[in-house]
Amino acid sequence: MTDIPHVKLNNDVTMPQFGLGVWQAEEGGEVERAVMTALEAGYRLIDTAAIYGNEAGVGKAIRDSGIPREEIFVTSKLWNDSHDYDTALAAYDASLERLGLDYLDLYLIHWPVPADNKYPEAWRALEKLYADKRVRAIGVSNFKPHHLEKLLQTAEVIPTVNQIELHPKLQQRETRDFCAQHEIKVESYSPLMRAGEVLQDPVITEIAEAHHKTPAQIVLRWHIQNGLIVIPKSTNPSRIRENVDIFDFHLTDAEMERINSMDEDKRIGSDPDTANFK
Ligand SMILES: NC(=O)c1ccc[n+]([C@@H]2O[C@H](COP(=O)([O-])OP(=O)(O)OC[C@H]3O[C@@H](n4cnc5c(N)ncnc54)[C@H](OP(=O)(O)O)[C@@H]3O)[C@@H](O)[C@H]2O)c1
Repeated sequence: MTDIPHVKLNNDVTMPQFGLGVWQAEEGGEVERAVMTALEAGYRLIDTAAIYGNEAGVGKAIRDSGIPREEIFVTSKLWNDSHDYDTALAAYDASLERLGLDYLDLYLIHWPVPADNKYPEAWRALEKLYADKRVRAIGVSNFKPHHLEKLLQTAEVIPTVNQIELHPKLQQRETRDFCAQHEIKVESYSPLMRAGEVLQDPVITEIAEAHHKTPAQIVLRWHIQNGLIVIPKSTNPSRIRENVDIFDFHLTDAEMERINSMDEDKRIGSDPDTANFK
């Protein structure tokens, strides 16, 4: 079984540094099979969200796996239409109900939008859930430094995690520096750039050949060696196993440096400053 490293969050909770993302995994059989395959391959972190519409399947696979609940780290997220205090508390209950679980390990504010800036109110609700010991850790997603600064003006609890789009073509140095200063762990979403151009980049393919690894494994290893938490999505059993098979080799400092210099500030997802979906 693969030995996945853990990171310690600022509230002393430990979290696997690598896990499965399930955005766009269909509710029912598809997501259940993906989670089950991942758990069999050694994954112990699953990242879902209310808006993904697949919390029930995630929960079913976790229960059916027979693995003790406390050995699996489950993340879900509060959607943008639920930032009012009472609505946010109810949304947490609804996520637990769909998952069939009685607590989450990590609950995130999914986006700092809509632009009515209700997220500090949503954060108060997450702080209440945390104070009541109904969730082990709380955090945010898609927050830039200015969103975090605003949140920190009124926050009593510092977010443990900020989950953001991050891959070799979008390295997010400013947000990473800000998070490091505030002991907030950065979690990379779309870490493979959604199987985009990064996997064909000659720097990546050349390093892959040198290590007898795939381009995806090189990119995921780069996240790990940068201290980032990483949650590639796959519903394909062989790619699920391929993605976790990254703990038996090291990228050299020179290889890390070559990938570090691939940054083009190139997003494939929405920019939190302009996203306006509800
Ligand atoms: N907080 C947010 O706003 C937010 C936004 C986006 C994503 N996320 C989270 O981050 C997770 C990952 O991000 P993502 O789904 O956007 O993108 P990703 O993990 O970078 O890429 C997923 C895509 O890559 C393919 N793939 C996976 N492993 C591969 C491999 N070894 N070789 C070639 N192709 C491979 C997958 O196809 P197959 O399934 O066919 O393998 C899928 O099309 C999501 O599932 C979600 O949990 C969060």
